[in-house]
Amino acid sequence: MNFDPFNELGGGSALRYDDGQQDDYCLPVASHSPETERLDYIHDVYKYHAGNVPEEVANLLNDGTTRRILDVGCGTGKWALEMIADFPDIHITGVDLAHPPITVFPSNFSFEIHDVTKGQEYEDDTFDVVHVRDIHAGMPDYHAMLTECVRVLRPGGYLLIKEIEWVPKLLDGGDAEQRFPAICAILESFRDALSERSLDPLVGVNVESYIDSVEGVTDIQYSRHMVPMTPWSDDPVLKYTGQMTRLAMAILGGTIRVMLLDHGESDPDGRYAAGIEELKDISGQPIWYFGSVVARKEGELDVTEEEEEEAEEGAVEDEEASHEGWRRDEDT
Ligand SMILES: C[S@@+](CC[C@H](N)C(=O)[O-])C[C@H]1O[C@@H](n2cnc3c(N)ncnc32)[C@H](O)[C@@H]1O
Repeated sequence: MNFDPFNELGGGSALRYDDGQQDDYCLPVASHSPETERLDYIHDVYKYHAGNVPEEVANLLNDGTTRRILDVGCGTGKWALEMIADFPDIHITGVDLAHPPITVFPSNFSFEIHDVTKGQEYEDDTFDVVHVRDIHAGMPDYHAMLTECVRVLRPGGYLLIKEIEWVPKLLDGGDAEQRFPAICAILESFRDALSERSLDPLVGVNVESYIDSVEGVTDIQYSRHMVPMTPWSDDPVLKYTGQMTRLAMAILGGTIRVMLLDHGESDPDGRYAAGIEELKDISGQPIWYFGSVVARKEGELDVTEEEEEEAEEGAVEDEEASHEGWRRDEDT
């Protein structure tokens, strides 16, 4: 039986519940199938198009000290777990309204249940990196959320943002609404439903102006990434991310069902199924975009004495390990 993470009261009053907790976030809990799978498919799309972190952040995370990362609205925790596998020295704190589907946490991954619309619970200048990905559907004041992220960043620390645009387009610049009327119409209803809940449905489109309006931020790099909605491309990466998107889109109907009902759709399942039917035809080359920002908090990322010692100890350990390896080689 499918777990229904909502009590559907209708009229904009659907409440989400999970293990006794209740909140008014409008999408299902990340730890319940098939929302878990949807988020993990889209995680792969982001990773293949933009990497989990840009090179300059990877360099920082490999500097031998314990760099601290905050993952805001960490969802399934997939990004955090992959980061820990790639950068074993880091420490990640994930915050979300609900627990991720992880039973055993690595010792350098801590998780807190917290509603970030109430601000961040951390001191100023705490984290080296803050990661924000696709949390617009829970943020009535996206600007305030970013301002809090910058507050808890250390001077010189990195803010990483990715947000989906929710507006289908065609690769050739043609009229997507004419070519894919059903999927465009149902996503328009979803954008309207977000607006009715005082959420900005176009955070992804406007992410550059959001970050421009936050004080204390510098070195802003904005990029916009094109993703196929179906596997129409011969390029292996685009074909894969097109497959992932189409799988995620097939699940999205259930994800946004309660919102569509609240918006007044009488047959959200039927209307959504018509949209998915359109995506079986790969000749039309539908695409979507996501907006991505890499920015820094003003100031220099100073190395504390503690971190300097830690880095030196790490270097000595590396040196010893390499000598051990050399001795073993000589012995054989
Ligand atoms: C679409 S999911 C994205 C999850 C993850 N960032 C990713 O990219 O895979 C949005 C997540 O934000 C969380 N969220 C929404 N509103 C929140 C809030 N007010 N405080 C904390 N987390 C929130 C949701 O519970 C959900 O796990």
